[in-house]
Amino acid sequence: MQIKKVGVAGCGLMGAGIAQVCAEAGYDVLVREVSDDLLKKGLGKIDSFLAKGVEKGKVTAERKQEVMGRLRGTTRVEDLKDRDIVIEAVVENLAAKRELFQALDPLCAAQTLFASNTSSLSITEMAAVTKRADRFVGLHFFNPVPLMKLVEVVRSPLTSPEALDAAFAFAQSLGKQPVRASDKTGFIVNRLLVPYLLDAIRALEEGAGSVEDIDKGMVLGCGHPMGPLTLLDYVGLDTTYFIANIMFDEYREPAYAPPPLLKRMVLAGRLGRKSGQGFYTY
Ligand code: CAA
Repeated sequence: MQIKKVGVAGCGLMGAGIAQVCAEAGYDVLVREVSDDLLKKGLGKIDSFLAKGVEKGKVTAERKQEVMGRLRGTTRVEDLKDRDIVIEAVVENLAAKRELFQALDPLCAAQTLFASNTSSLSITEMAAVTKRADRFVGLHFFNPVPLMKLVEVVRSPLTSPEALDAAFAFAQSLGKQPVRASDKTGFIVNRLLVPYLLDAIRALEEGAGSVEDIDKGMVLGCGHPMGPLTLLDYVGLDTTYFIANIMFDEYREPAYAPPPLLKRMVLAGRLGRKSGQGFYTY
């Protein structure tokens, strides 16, 4: 089955990035948000990312126009019914995701592929509410989606090999470098990244070094593009706290237990870049 029409549910940080890379790859893209206001904001993010690309000389003005021309928005879930693949990037909440897939399942053609961009919830648990669990995969993109090359293509025990191959080929068609992962909480990257980020907070709590020095240590000592505390601010402390709790629930390993400082910062509204204050001030 050929994928031509892509649906993206959710136009927040991740959904907007996913919609953008799909439109850049030449797909006809329809993005659904719950309100006109959120839709406008989401499409605005794509427009300003491409505008920055034009400023930097990475993208031509014509190319920007061409990409934006392949993107349309809607607030109606029913409008996604003619899509060949629907990628879900709504709030990281199992009930919300299940509700969306349950609504989409009877609307879309039997061969339409369903994908979730979840970073920590179970693909199997989402697939189970549909009648197409064999055509249900995880497609986990990384932030910032237009720049990060990786996509984790996740199979549940119910995913057919054909659907997994189709999703893998689709990710490649976006110019990404996919890896296959099984539906184990955190997949590959967060399973390794989350304990590392939590450990950086523990190192800070224990006085191993200052915020700046911990970050500088990992940037210059290990060649990472960002130090762990900068990355935490970038990803969002609330998001990390949420993922860590889900992973701790699943594995019961201390490595995934959110440190007290993370919890206090989230409670205090210090969420990182998005709130203007995290380990750094923005
Ligand atoms: N349009 C086109 N190209 C653009 C662009 C735009 N608007 N903005 C930037 N670029 C290009 C740049 O020109 C540059 O290209 P060259 O290398 O060819 O020069 C490249 O993209 C990198 O951009 P910058 O130089 O502006 O930025 P940088 O080098 O400082 O890198 C970064 C920024 C990519 C974010 C880098 O810091 C990085 O990789 N950080 C780590 C991010 C990370 O780890 N993300 C994963 C988070 S975890 C997650 O997402 C999973 C989860 O479930 C929580």
